Amino acid sequence: MGRKFFVGGNWKCNGTTDEVKKIVSMLNEAEVPSEDDVDVVVSPPFVFLPIVKSLLRPDFSIAAQNCWVRKGGAFTGEVSAEMLVNLGIPWVILGHSERRLLLNESKEFVGDKVAYALSQGLKVIACVGEALEQRESGSTMAVVAAQTEAIADRVLNWSNIVLAYEPVWAIGTGKVATPAQAQEVHSELRKWLHENAGAEVAATTRIAATTRIVYGGSVNGANCKELAAKPDVDGFLVGGASLKPEFIDIIKSST
Ligand code: G3P
Repeated sequence: MGRKFFVGGNWKCNGTTDEVKKIVSMLNEAEVPSEDDVDVVVSPPFVFLPIVKSLLRPDFSIAAQNCWVRKGGAFTGEVSAEMLVNLGIPWVILGHSERRLLLNESKEFVGDKVAYALSQGLKVIACVGEALEQRESGSTMAVVAAQTEAIADRVLNWSNIVLAYEPVWAIGTGKVATPAQAQEVHSELRKWLHENAGAEVAATTRIAATTRIVYGGSVNGANCKELAAKPDVDGFLVGGASLKPEFIDIIKSST
């Protein structure tokens, strides 16, 4: 069974109400493959979730860029998984490298967040990725396997997880991973899932075969086709280019 192509658009901390409306209009007017063939999930900042959800075409879905690690309460500034469910937001991005690095989110904390978000019925885009010095020292797989293990230690059901491999050195830099680099890590991650991710062989086999692993890091309209052609690249998590018309080309890149 083929894995359905997945394209996420992480808008990060960007936009005004007018800019967001213009992006949504651009998306709503686009001719794209059927939702039977591609999952498109856009992720605006929290403050724009209600308006984007109200205006976005019904064949696209929506994600928050983060959520709190447990039930809401005295956690000033946080947004709980329950609040996202209440708003009808089905997806959440967790473990983005910008949060791991800037806010010191540990791999264990990210694992706890993934488990809690899933427990509340959210679908999760879980991000992993190595820093430049880790790649240069040859520890890429050790790093992304440890980040993935911190999730697998807390989660048995992977059916609502999309794993996003985002090498930190490619994020926002224009230095996109080569298709071979992306394929190598995705293939190794799938192998890791097969050996570690379930309670028994049947589960790990199914998880490895069905879990979508998408690439993120300087994806654009020019490089997406070649990346999408790799067997273990099941789509993308796009930053800067998701705010531009070329995001439509990226959505079409699997065809
Ligand atoms: O989450 C996706 C993001 O980290 C990639 O950013 O701008 O390199 O596509 P960008």
